[in-house]
Amino acid sequence: MDFKRLIEKALESREKAYVPYSKFKVGAAVLFEDDNIYTGCNIENASFGATNCAERTAIFKGISEGNRIIKAIAIVGDIRTYTTPCGICRQVISEFVEDENTPIILIKNKEDYIVKTFGEVMPGAFTKKDLEN
Ligand code: THU
Repeated sequence: MDFKRLIEKALESREKAYVPYSKFKVGAAVLFEDDNIYTGCNIENASFGATNCAERTAIFKGISEGNRIIKAIAIVGDIRTYTTPCGICRQVISEFVEDENTPIILIKNKEDYIVKTFGEVMPGAFTKKDLEN
């Protein structure tokens, strides 16, 4: 899989972040089964708990267009670190990955990124499979 486009889109989306409180901009780009990339940024709120992370913004955009399978997700936050998805976002991602091998791309910049699998960032996730009889 070529991650170049996904990385570019995550970087572009970060610029749209609404972060008057933390000033910590995050961008995400998600490739779904329709072969489209859906992007998202973090959107903060004066009531801090109402903040939406970049990953969930992007995922909910794709899901609300009819997608159900995340093929890959790329995330970029602060340039000094590889920003990893928060616990709530990991749970949301877990709902829509086909298996543990789905790539999670953690980006510092265009040239500097690492690729992990979903299983590495969330081993032993509780998923819909656990609800099957
Ligand atoms: N944030 C994300 O958008 N994604 C993450 O994976 C980590 C945290 C946002 C939430 C908040 O707007 C800011 O980063 C600081 O926590």
